[in-house]
Amino acid sequence: MRAFAVAIAVCLSLFLSFVFSLRNRTLSPDTFSSSVCQLSNQPHPRTLRFNQFTVLINGYSESRLPLLQSIAATYSASPLVASVLVLWGNPSTPPLTLAQLAHNLSVSSMGSAAISLVPQASTSLNARFLPRSSIGTRGVLVCDDDVEVDLKTVEFAFRMWRGNPERLIGIFVRSHDIDMRRKEWIYTVHPDKYSIVLTKFMMMKTEYLFKYSCGGGAPMREMRRMVDKMRNCEDILMNFVVAEETNAGPMMVGAKRVRDWGDPRNEDDDGVRLVREVGLSSRRAEHRKRRGDCITEFHRAFGRMPLRYSYAKLVSSVGEQGLCQKGANLVLCDH
Ligand SMILES: *[C@@H]1O[C@H](CO)[C@@H](O)[C@H](O)[C@H]1NC(C)=O
Ligand SMILES: *[C@@H]1O[C@H](CO)[C@@H](O)[C@H](O)[C@H]1NC(C)=O
Repeated sequence: MRAFAVAIAVCLSLFLSFVFSLRNRTLSPDTFSSSVCQLSNQPHPRTLRFNQFTVLINGYSESRLPLLQSIAATYSASPLVASVLVLWGNPSTPPLTLAQLAHNLSVSSMGSAAISLVPQASTSLNARFLPRSSIGTRGVLVCDDDVEVDLKTVEFAFRMWRGNPERLIGIFVRSHDIDMRRKEWIYTVHPDKYSIVLTKFMMMKTEYLFKYSCGGGAPMREMRRMVDKMRNCEDILMNFVVAEETNAGPMMVGAKRVRDWGDPRNEDDDGVRLVREVGLSSRRAEHRKRRGDCITEFHRAFGRMPLRYSYAKLVSSVGEQGLCQKGANLVLCDH
């Protein structure tokens, strides 16, 4: 009987330490990898390549591996892509599956860009913005594992970014707005303006990764912790960081062909949607509410509202020049 009780106690303590170690793994990068924030570990921007970019794809769900692999392969085919890093944010994926995936990815490259798997130490969404020494380019594309964008659009977006390297460039956009009655911020879609680019497709300069992960002192630490607590809104926070730097809104690029296989986190009303789920409307309302709460909390922690509206959409035109679509008109972009 005593032996039995001891065995139970041992099992319980093993279980508890397992649970606690899991808890630790969900902490933000702040707590376990301060070395990424040492300035001496950061490459000087001038040593980084400007004629290519690095793709950072977030992966989490094993059921979407075939899609993830196809998206990574598509990016690797572009001569403008230096390398593709698949940031695997699910620490409970079995090591054997990870080893297989790493192999499958490495052989699926269709161009000169290598595809590598980078398992993350935690599920923290902040990890997708960690500055990484393996990034050898001045620009990065941060994207999800369920959005397919045609290469022509990707390359057009990169050209537009090169002309505007301080700005955040995206395809999927949203807005902040104020609810006068409740005196709080809301997350919404405006037909004619936008202030937030989603991480379904977000192109920016590599330095912003460092600013997000290491800059901003105590207020940014608090906001990164909020991202961990809400398991959401890392994209909104990056928009705050860049708007604060540039005092300008993001830039939206018009896509030729996009397939969005539907991340429930971003469930909204974008163009083509192939996966529809039941009970979406209440989920969507709840999603929007939580995103609005993030904006309100970030505003409080920042002490001001840095988000700025933009009004035009950049479209590719004759000679692959970028023009701005405002309403029904195509005009020269005034930047
Ligand atoms: C969790 O993290 C804390 C501090 O970061 C550390 O002191 C503790 O030993 C960790 N616990 C486990 C179970 O790893
Ligand atoms: C890797 O590829 C093999 C062969 O196509 C496939 O059977 C396996 O499921 C793949 N595994 C992963 C984790 O992608």
